[in-house]
Amino acid sequence: MNIDWSTDLYCLIGHPISKSLSPKIHNYIFSENKTNGIYLCFDVKEKSLETVISSFKALNIKGFNVTIPYKIEIMKYLDDIDREAEMLGAVNTVKNFDGRLIGYNTDGIGFLKSLKNKGIEITNKTFLILGAGGASSAISTRLAIEGAKKIIILNRDLNKAKKIACKIEDNFRDVLVNYGPYNFIDFNFDEVNIIVNCTSVGMYPNIDFVPIDLNLFRKKVLVYDVVYKPLKTKFLKMAEDKGFATMSGISMLINQAIASQQIWYGDNNFKFDVIEKRLEGFLYNNVE
Ligand code: ATR
Repeated sequence: MNIDWSTDLYCLIGHPISKSLSPKIHNYIFSENKTNGIYLCFDVKEKSLETVISSFKALNIKGFNVTIPYKIEIMKYLDDIDREAEMLGAVNTVKNFDGRLIGYNTDGIGFLKSLKNKGIEITNKTFLILGAGGASSAISTRLAIEGAKKIIILNRDLNKAKKIACKIEDNFRDVLVNYGPYNFIDFNFDEVNIIVNCTSVGMYPNIDFVPIDLNLFRKKVLVYDVVYKPLKTKFLKMAEDKGFATMSGISMLINQAIASQQIWYGDNNFKFDVIEKRLEGFLYNNVE
């Protein structure tokens, strides 16, 4: 890294941000792409968000990521918001266009890219989405944009599942949507092609839990867990034992970061696919 007067600063704001992998990922990409940038983390305390954002403008920070708990609150301090981020109601990436801050959300794109990289088609598939928080909303919205056949959302808090389902129904007439609790009786397990765990169940330190009993699924499904700590969750281990294909949240994490870089820099002939593979290996040694 060769820091000089023209080095661009990028960063993550959130609270807490300890142990975030974003600096490792973005600085790795800067180094691989030979871009003169550096990525830092700022632990932003409650009530100082507005001041932080105006100082970012004053300092001409080129772009930043936003994480818990500011993905929604940040929206009121931005000059414009991309349609997808607006629709799902959360921003995780901001680009500074000559003093105008524009918000985006790359979580859904990152998820989708990780599937596409494995050659997985979306349009003919039924997705079972577990959870109805931020990750669920981003992933469900992106799947609807891509024309998934059907999206079923299960959650403990039914109102949250209903909110996402209604938004999809209103905006994407061709996509079939359903929602319910975990013991949802009006739903056929055999129609599911891909299960996506968007809950925090199974995340370190509570690694002995799974979000749903995979024995309910008689046909082969792909099991995707957005949790990446641990890299192989109990849910993924159980899926493997049943002979199901699996994908870990690390690929979504890497691809949402790459999508942020693409917003900041454009494609610019960067070899993101090569970087993605190398990053995966690099992170396997860095996730605790
Ligand atoms: P994120 O932004 O990572 O999606 P979030 O918005 O806090 O995080 O959402 C967490 C999701 O995990 C929610 O759907 C939550 O369910 P509720 O809405 O019913 O609270 C789900 N979740 C968390 N712990 C859970 C548990 N023990 N069992 C089932 N679902 C759980």
